[in-house]
Amino acid sequence: MASLLKLFFSILATTLLATSQLANSGDPDILSDFILPPDLPEPDEHFFTFNGTRGIFDATRPTSFKIAKASLAEFPSLEGQSVSYAVLQFPAGAANPPHIHPRASELLLVARGVLEVGLVDSANRLYTQTLQSGDMFVFPKGLVHYQSNVGRNTAVAFSAFGSASAGTVSLPTALFGSGIDDDVLAKGFKTDEDTVRGLEAGLAPPMKY
Ligand SMILES: *[C@@H]1O[C@H](CO)[C@@H](O)[C@H](O)[C@H]1NC(C)=O
Repeated sequence: MASLLKLFFSILATTLLATSQLANSGDPDILSDFILPPDLPEPDEHFFTFNGTRGIFDATRPTSFKIAKASLAEFPSLEGQSVSYAVLQFPAGAANPPHIHPRASELLLVARGVLEVGLVDSANRLYTQTLQSGDMFVFPKGLVHYQSNVGRNTAVAFSAFGSASAGTVSLPTALFGSGIDDDVLAKGFKTDEDTVRGLEAGLAPPMKY
């Protein structure tokens, strides 16, 4: 009996330790310098290079919010490296709507223009800031945040993520573009189903980024 109890507590302790380590970690650590795809026995400099964003600043300025990513999906060599990047371009008046990155914190650097950013913590406190070119702002992992170009000129920002695959949950899309029952949404937002349907209808197809 005593040994059974001992076993139970040791399993419990191991499980607790494992889950707390999981909760504290970023991407899993890898046991090699990098992870080669099966069809590439030897790496070369191309393996470490990403050119998918080449010329991004030569193209004509976008007319709506535009994001170019270098994450695991676009750049498979990032597997196991716990980093990724995004280049965000905002025409005057454009915004990146409220969203969450479930797997990484984000460190944003404004390279050009003026950008208003907002962050809501888990106590529902809103923090906003107007960033000038050269300023940085950190969005902690899993918290709701947004960016908005309140200036008259195009704004450009770079975002670094502490995961090769930070993931994005866009709140408008997750709530009103996922098929959640109108009745549930109407109750959740203390409104009627017509209002909910109006919000659903106004949503563009789900944003993929
Ligand atoms: C960009 O990278 C891809 C994949 O490594 C490569 O096949 C292609 O030749 C590169 N393009 C240029 C213009 O270097």
